[in-house]
Amino acid sequence: MGTATILRMSDREHAPTEMMRLIYGAFLSQQLATAADLGVADLLADGPKPVSVLSERTGTDPVALHRVLRGLAAVGVFTEIAPATFGLTPLAMTLRADVPESLRNVARLAGARETHEALAGLEHSIRTGLPSFERAYGTDWWSYLAANPGRASLFHAAMGDVARQTHAAVASAYDFSDRRILVDVGGGHGHLAAAILQRYPEMTAVVFDRPEVVSDVPTTLDKTGVAGRARAEGGDFFERIPENGDVYVLSWILHDWDDDDAATILANVREAMAPGAKVIVIDTLIPPGDEPHLGKLLDIIMLMQHGGKERTEAEMVGVLRAGGLTETEIVELAPWPTALIVAQS
Ligand SMILES: C[S@@+](CC[C@H](N)C(=O)[O-])C[C@H]1O[C@@H](n2cnc3c(N)ncnc32)[C@H](O)[C@@H]1O
Repeated sequence: MGTATILRMSDREHAPTEMMRLIYGAFLSQQLATAADLGVADLLADGPKPVSVLSERTGTDPVALHRVLRGLAAVGVFTEIAPATFGLTPLAMTLRADVPESLRNVARLAGARETHEALAGLEHSIRTGLPSFERAYGTDWWSYLAANPGRASLFHAAMGDVARQTHAAVASAYDFSDRRILVDVGGGHGHLAAAILQRYPEMTAVVFDRPEVVSDVPTTLDKTGVAGRARAEGGDFFERIPENGDVYVLSWILHDWDDDDAATILANVREAMAPGAKVIVIDTLIPPGDEPHLGKLLDIIMLMQHGGKERTEAEMVGVLRAGGLTETEIVELAPWPTALIVAQS
């Protein structure tokens, strides 16, 4: 019997094949989420392992697990170094729990039932401009998290994954040395405030977020050694924002809201801030045209989950001005596709 030679066009040149990959992108995302849930990457941290070992440790069917890992290896996540034996790749490393570049909780959140139900209602969002999540669950995302502490933990852990990576960039991209009182508006568990205070020993901070969220702030402040210089305050940024700060940070906040709500939050910041204070917004800025940009994907999540949006530079300038602020500087936080926009009143 002769050896068969398979001649094939590059898949990349075949639009239907490429399109099939895109169409089934959600399946790939779910494989990543499942691998993250199972902790496969952590099991490979000390070296490649056979599927038989991985399936035993994760309580999964070895044949089915092999199929999932083979599928992920085909896109560069894990590598099948020998038949039915898998190891880590740089992409798979980000699914580990214990590395600085971890996105494990982001993957798990992307695979959560709530994400899928919102996604399934995308047409509703496109027809109405309203969040499909709210139609599916009858409440807004933040109230849902308040009523579902398990999901809130996953959400804030996912935020923490991204926070660890972008917040260090914020602390080094902007010179806070002439600032003394930081107010982190919607500061979550306080990771950003902690990163800035660690770098600027003269500063103090208020981490402001919903009451049920700020209860976890003291743990972050303790762990990072800045507890003596920071405090948590619970509240609603549509009602009142802590006063007299000389720098207000809004990290991944405005993209959760439509233009009117974003302008209201900014107007409340303006009302609260000390004369001469700076406002620092951290969000993606959508580039013009067809340029690939992570913000274009996050934008759809914002639409479905919150009725919010990622903004172009012109749109961001528009909401800042509607809130009574003027932009003074924009700093790109590469390699993350994120910008730091400085404004003042
Ligand atoms: C996308 S997260 C960003 C968290 C954090 N700033 C970061 O960079 O990781 C948005 C935050 O806004 C908070 N938030 C939502 N609605 C709020 C409100 N009405 N008042 C205060 N905080 C609110 C949420 O609890 C959440 O922590």
